[in-house]
This record gives sequence, C-alpha cells and structure tokens, in this order.
Amino acid sequence: MKPIHVGLLGLGTVGGGTLTVLRRNAEEITRRAGREIRVVRAAVRNLDKAKKLAGDLPLTTNPFDVVDDPAIDIVVELIGGLEPARELVMQAIANGKHVVTANKHLVAKHGNEIFAAAQAKGVMVAFEAAVAGGIPIIKALREGLTANRIEWLAGIINGTSNFILSEMRDKGAAFDDVLKEAQRLGYAEADPTFDIEGIDAAHKLTILSAIAFGIPMQFDRAYTEGISKLTREDVKYAEELGYRIKLLGIARRAEKGIELRVHPTLIPERRLIANVDGAMNAVLVKGDAVGPTLYYGAGAGAEPTASAVVADLVDVTRLHTADPHHRVPHLAFQPDQLADTPI
Ligand code: HSE
Repeated sequence: MKPIHVGLLGLGTVGGGTLTVLRRNAEEITRRAGREIRVVRAAVRNLDKAKKLAGDLPLTTNPFDVVDDPAIDIVVELIGGLEPARELVMQAIANGKHVVTANKHLVAKHGNEIFAAAQAKGVMVAFEAAVAGGIPIIKALREGLTANRIEWLAGIINGTSNFILSEMRDKGAAFDDVLKEAQRLGYAEADPTFDIEGIDAAHKLTILSAIAFGIPMQFDRAYTEGISKLTREDVKYAEELGYRIKLLGIARRAEKGIELRVHPTLIPERRLIANVDGAMNAVLVKGDAVGPTLYYGAGAGAEPTASAVVADLVDVTRLHTADPHHRVPHLAFQPDQLADTPI
C-alpha cells in the first residue's frame, strides 16, 4: 500500500522528536499503521537552524506550502500559540486534510470551532500530545474508560511548575533559577507565564474535562491560580507538616455543573501523587465502574511528546485507510448530551 503523506508545521523540540521517533521506529510504526507514514515536507521559521535535523526532508518557510499541498494527507501542527496556528489548522481542514496537533492553547480556546469544522468536512483532528505529554490520557478517557460515568479527575499536568516545586523542595533552589533550567531543558512554554500562572494547566484541564464530561471547551470558566507566589519557605513548611505542594488541575461534578480549578494544593506525602517529581505528570481519574485510576509519565520534552504525536499519526492512518472517504468522522471530539452543563 502506498505511504500516507504527512506535512509538519514546526520543527522545534516536539517536531524534531517526532522526526526522530518516526525514523528510529520506522519498521514497527509501519507495521502497526498498516502502511508507511512518510513526512514529505516541513514548514519552519529558520531554514538554517532546521537543516541539520531535517536531513533530506524538503523544507519551506511558507506554512501554506504544507496546508495547501494536495499530496499531503495529514498536517501535524507543532508551532504552538493561537495564530497563525488556528488559521492553518482551519485551512488544512477546509482542504480535507486530517490534523494532528500538540497545541493545548489552540484546542482549549478554539476546539469547539475546529471540531465542528472537522465534523462537517469528515476529517479527523487528534490531540493526544496536547495533554500530559507522553501519557495516553485522552485515549484512556475516550477508550479505556468509555463505559464509566467520570466522577472527578485531578492531575499534575504542567511539568515546568512541578519541576520548579520539586527543585525548590529537594535542593532549596530559587524559583527563577529553576525556571531558567526548565526553559533550557525545553519544558517551558514560549511564554513561561503560562506555566507558572497555571494557564497551561488550565488549558489541559479544559481539554480533559471536555472529554471526560462531554462538555464543550470552556477555558474561560476555569478558576486559575499558579505557583508564582510560592516561596522556598512555603515549600519547606509544608514538608515539615508532612505535605507536598503540587499544582493540581481538578475537574469534578458539583451541584451546579462541572467545576474546573487549577491551584497549588497541599497533598499528604504518603499519597502516590505527592511523590510525582520533576517534569513528570500524573492524572487521577475516578470512574463510577472502575473506581480510581492513575496515569503517570513524562509530561513534557521532545520524545515523550513525540510519542503521543506519532500514536495519533498511527491512529489517523489506520482509520483513514479503513475509511478513505471519511464517511464516519473519527477522533474529532463532539460534546455529548451534557453539552449545556454549566461550569
Ligand atoms: N510547558 C508544558 C509543561 C509543556 O511544562 O508541562 C508540555 O505541555
């Protein structure tokens, strides 16, 4: 069978990781997808910077060369931010292409519009990499837990702030120094305010809650408080009392609807989630049938995030191959009958 053609928008940390994983595990990935997943072009900002990583992959500085290329079946959006990412994704969908994205900001803010467009066009939009890096939490909610009524979920879903809190506790390090280190390691957002003020976690919580509770993306309704006001003393006193401070995203059924909140939380140190350190993420999900479940893994970084991007590429390839005329839209999330549940 002929290869499926992929175009990349962005070849930074995650784009580079995606190329590396696709190349290194090509044999297994081809076998699992049922055909070769071939990256045929990448749009980058700086050609010189990207050349070494790209090898013989054709590059362009014009992202429309990717989204308007009739030979491309799947567009992978890894540029982040709202614009031009939104415009490019909408154009790719209008051109009948499937989209894989790691862009939590975009999905949390414009997911409703994007999924409606994908539904109308009969194409797929997959976004596993947008939440908790390499942890397959979207697939867990949509597939493994699909029999359940989800009661609540709570998680450490921002690696940068967890890394900062861990280093403050373990090494008595200063907030600003650890933030710089998180930036150097490629964990932090382009604007690290998103990490330390809880905004990135709120984007991810919005996406998780939409999938878990069948509600539209309602980012603006989440209560959001970050870790920027915490000091080494706060972290130390918490420890003396037998607690760890973690930035948690929490979504739960409340009397009036679904409650969404992100804030620093004191957790008794004997709890598993209190011992999730560094840039690792963990998500607890309580389903009515299964009870509490816990998902743990790397929440940021090149290859962990690429692991989720490539998993989506394999899914989309399988589904596209089984249903080439896209009669049944898959993966493009649609809110279910709880759609008007207020938060
Ligand atoms: N800045 C994000 C984090 C990257 O630290 O978790 C992964 O989404």
